[in-house]
Parts: sequence; structure tokens; C-alpha cells
Amino acid sequence: MKASSEAASESGDGQRPSPGASAPTVAIRGLSKRYGGVQALVDMHLEVGRGHVHAVVGENGAGKSTLMKILSGVHPYGTYSGEVVFDGELCSFSGIRDSEARGVVIIHQELALVPQLSIAENLFLGNEIAQRGMIDWNRTNHEAEQHLRRVGLRENPTIARVSSGSASSSSSRSPRHCPRRSGC
Ligand SMILES: Nc1ncnc2c1ncn2[C@@H]1O[C@H](COP(=O)(O)OP(=O)(O)OP(=O)(O)O)[C@@H](O)[C@H]1O
Ligand SMILES: [Mg+2]
Repeated sequence: MKASSEAASESGDGQRPSPGASAPTVAIRGLSKRYGGVQALVDMHLEVGRGHVHAVVGENGAGKSTLMKILSGVHPYGTYSGEVVFDGELCSFSGIRDSEARGVVIIHQELALVPQLSIAENLFLGNEIAQRGMIDWNRTNHEAEQHLRRVGLRENPTIARVSSGSASSSSSRSPRHCPRRSGC
């Protein structure tokens, strides 16, 4: 991926953002990333305004995932050149915890779901709701159900129905209940 011209942008209401209308929420300047002998990103520039929707489009190997990995701290600060500025502040993420703390959340191309765990456990993996070192399963399951309903799903969150490849393909599988969880 070589230049900002490869990134198309539209605002959420379908209108083109007016350039310079306001400071960009995310500004990517001169971003380059190399994996050994492979130059994945070359001097990339992109500005994203608040409320605007962008699509990064490119052929296989163009560098889309590399860009997302830099934005989300998977590739930490110092492993690439150029800069990523978020709300006017230079990002120097050392990992995904840092990027999540700044509100950057990535849905990765390769889903990292654990088929043995329930829907609720997968949803809160790494962000468990706990009190005094104990996971609050009632709250976990309740909040998972609320999140599912927000996107029109009426699945039982205490059931394992996910697969690592595709969540939708798992719907034909027999659901497995999780006996050790309260509320199962
Ligand atoms: N960990 C890695 N080690 C070495 N080379 C890598 C690594 N990750 C990506 N690459 C190379 O960097 C380039 C960009 O890869 P990237 O995965 O970012 O592209 P992509 O646009 O996401 O492709 P796709 O559409 O196939 O997902 C490719 O040439 C790829 O082979
Ligand atoms: Mg990719």
C-alpha cells in the first residue's frame, strides 16, 4: 500500500467530508512497515474525521492488515516508521491494551474465538467482569445477552456456539451447555 489515494472515504451520511472542516480524529503520516525483505507499507498517509466511514481497499498482500495491526498496537511503536496521531496525540502503543484504552478496537480478519467457551466467555475474553478476583457470571451472562440483543440476536450467551473460523457457520452445530457456569 503506497499512498493515501488508495483509501476511499465517506461520511456516515454518505456525504464526502469537506477537507479541513475539522482536525482529523486519526492522522496517519508517512507510515512505512517492513517485514524483513518485504516492504508492506510505503509512506502511507490517511486522515479520518470523527463520524466518517472509510474503506481501505487493496489486493491480497497490499498491506491492509498491516495498517490495522499498527493502529491497534499489534505492531508496537518502534517497529514501523512514520506516525499515528489520535485526537492530536502521537500514539506510541506498546500493545493492544494501550490501543483499547484509547478507544481503538479492531475486529480482525482471522477471528480469534475459542470454540470450547460460551458466547459470553468469548465476548468478554480478556475483559472479564470480576469482583475480588472472581468472575461475576451473572453479570457477564446478562451483559452478553444485552449486547447480543442490540444486534438482533437472541442466542443463549451461556452456550458454546462459536467456531474459530466463522461464527455464522457454527449455527448448525449442536449447542453445548457449559455446566460449570452459573445460569447455564
Ligand atoms: N508477519 C509477517 N512476516 C512477513 N511478511 C508479512 C507478515 N505479515 C504480512 N507480511 C507481508 O506483508 C505484506 C502485506 O500483508 P498484509 O497481510 O498486511 O496484506 P493484506 O492487504 O491484509 O492482504 P489480504 O487481503 O490477503 O488480507 C504481504 O506481502 C505479506 O506477505
Ligand atoms: Mg489482511
